[in-house]
Amino acid sequence: MKLKNVIQLLCFAFVLMCIAPSCVKEGPIGYTGNAGENGKDGANGKDANATCLTCHAQANMAAKEAQYDMSDKGTRTARSGKYCARCHSTEGFQEIATMGTFVVTNEMLNGTKITCAACHKHSGFDFATDANSKILRTISPVYLNYENYNLTTNAFVATKSTDYGSINNLCANCHQIRSTTVATYTDPTPPKGTPVTTPVKYTAVPYFPVANVTGSITQNTLVKYRAGTNFGIHEGANQPDYLISRGGYEYAGKTYTRKTAHSADKCTDCHFNVYDATAKTGGHTMKTNLKDPKCVGCHDLTTKIPATLVTINSKLTELGELLSAKKIFKKTTNATTGAVSYSAQFSHDFYGTVLPTTASAPTTYALTLAGANLPSATTGLLVYNSLVTWAADTDFANRIGREWTYGELGAAFNYTYVNTVATAANKGIHNPIYALELLQSSIDYLK
Ligand code: HEC
Ligand code: HEC
Ligand code: HEC
Ligand code: HEC
Ligand code: HEC
Ligand code: HEC
Repeated sequence: MKLKNVIQLLCFAFVLMCIAPSCVKEGPIGYTGNAGENGKDGANGKDANATCLTCHAQANMAAKEAQYDMSDKGTRTARSGKYCARCHSTEGFQEIATMGTFVVTNEMLNGTKITCAACHKHSGFDFATDANSKILRTISPVYLNYENYNLTTNAFVATKSTDYGSINNLCANCHQIRSTTVATYTDPTPPKGTPVTTPVKYTAVPYFPVANVTGSITQNTLVKYRAGTNFGIHEGANQPDYLISRGGYEYAGKTYTRKTAHSADKCTDCHFNVYDATAKTGGHTMKTNLKDPKCVGCHDLTTKIPATLVTINSKLTELGELLSAKKIFKKTTNATTGAVSYSAQFSHDFYGTVLPTTASAPTTYALTLAGANLPSATTGLLVYNSLVTWAADTDFANRIGREWTYGELGAAFNYTYVNTVATAANKGIHNPIYALELLQSSIDYLK
């Protein structure tokens, strides 16, 4: 529309408004009051250019976008399953953060990869104090999955939160032990052939009270390591716990270092440090720029980290050897590469019967759980379920033939806690001091 037309239109609108009754300046006939005073002008608003453009300048947003496209999050696709979407998709994270739940309601088949809007949400425009808290979806203390599962009702309940400190809480919503991915099992072999709700303490080891020796459970209390259980930390995603020396199995009478050079840091101090365009690190790539002058001033990480990994790996081998000598772990050597690996050996079958140590013992045991997720006949929604598999135990020579002590379980757990990694670079590097203390105290206990 031309400017002249706009002005004409506005004039016409003004005339119309003044004929309307609401424009009468004084009260209608019979009323005597005069018109009130005009209100005062408000104070001038702040210049949006000054406030908003600190972040929203096109160049800044484009730079963030470009950096983020180099991160793992920016390059990987969503995982939309019911037990994955909360951490592996934008919509899943938005749902659990908004609802305060632990698992999304259903599959998120249209779930998109983690994007800006997973972490970012404006809660206010008063940026003067703590701008970051106004642009992040959450920085509240976190109700961890593995600490908020009621083993009696077999359901998540928010009872215990952990405060990792502002931004670190955002990260700890996803960077935490994954916890259960199934709640029921079916035994296809009669007479046990009906679906039964399984307490997840039998399917994921974080449900054992391994974190610390507390209450009635001591390191000499006995425990069955049943088939179907696992030690999974999930891809080494325990960085927030590491940073503050937490979550490993700690032995009575041993001391563990809580305060390190970096224990009070934000994840972003290292992972969002100075952007290096050549190395494609720093900033929103979320990959630590090891050559940031700020870091180099104190240490050369390009030589320090590999040296630390050598020390950690040799302690892991020492512990792995001890655990396999006790038949808690089984040692496997890859025939072609010669690579050595250790895996935990079940002491008991799924129902808690001790597994034999000789071939002469009874032949069939409920050995493993496998996924059998099927759509419900009534709702059509996927029901997560596991099948109990019966088999003959052929690994009897590697069986311990008794219950473990919690101390032994703790040693096996600590091995996994340090060894569980997405990339080798991640292994214990967030707190080598605590990692080595966990390994050494486990070794001392076993000896
Ligand atoms: C401290 C940095 C920061 C400041 C200051 C800031 N924003 Fe934002 N804003 C963000 C981030 C980060 C996002 C998420 C970006 C995205 O999802 O693409 C966002 C998203 C938005 C969105 C949603 C846009 C979209 O594409 O989803 C609007 C609207 C918005 N901001 C308006 C404003 C206004 C208006 C101001 C000033 C009063 C402001 N912002 C100041 C960081 C900031
Ligand atoms: C509590 C949050 C959480 C849940 C739930 C979760 N993950 Fe993850 N997952 C992560 C995090 C965080 C990482 C990155 C870990 C790292 O690099 O240290 C990751 C990494 C991975 C990786 C390796 C990196 C990659 O993206 O390829 C795979 C594979 C994976 N997850 C699969 C799954 C699957 C399958 C499920 C559902 C059954 C699932 N995850 C559920 C948090 C979670
Ligand atoms: C994994 C979470 C996460 C994702 C995903 C993410 N950000 Fe951020 N972003 C943060 C955090 C945390 C901060 C605070 C940074 C700090 O303190 O260094 C931040 C800060 C910002 C800021 C303000 C600081 C500045 O330097 O201007 C902007 C703008 C921004 N992000 C844009 C984006 C955009 C655009 C995307 C998507 C391309 C994105 N972010 C994706 C976590 C995230
Ligand atoms: C919504 C869940 C979620 C949140 C919130 C989250 N992460 Fe992640 N992060 C992941 C997943 C999942 C991966 C593995 C990559 C993938 O599969 O997308 C990952 C990967 C990473 C990686 C691997 C390196 C790379 O290139 O990306 C780093 C580092 C990382 N995250 C740091 C952080 C930090 C720091 C924060 C907090 C500011 C954070 N993450 C918040 C889920 C999350
Ligand atoms: C003191 C610095 C520092 C702090 C603080 C820190 N990290 Fe790291 N992080 C590193 C370094 C260094 C690596 C190894 C990266 C390398 O060698 O390139 C790493 C690795 C990782 C990885 C694996 C990266 C990959 O490529 O697979 C993830 C995921 C991660 N950190 C997440 C976090 C989270 C979440 C926090 C906050 C709880 C955090 N980090 C705090 C320095 C730090
Ligand atoms: C004020 C000094 C100082 C600064 C600055 C500093 N660090 Fe550190 N850092 C230390 C100290 C002290 C240790 C642990 C003691 C030691 O072994 O030197 C350490 C240990 C580490 C470790 C464990 C490495 C290993 O192999 O033992 C990582 C990773 C790390 N720092 C990353 C970073 C990153 C990334 C930055 C920059 C964002 C940074 N640091 C900045 C002092 C510093």
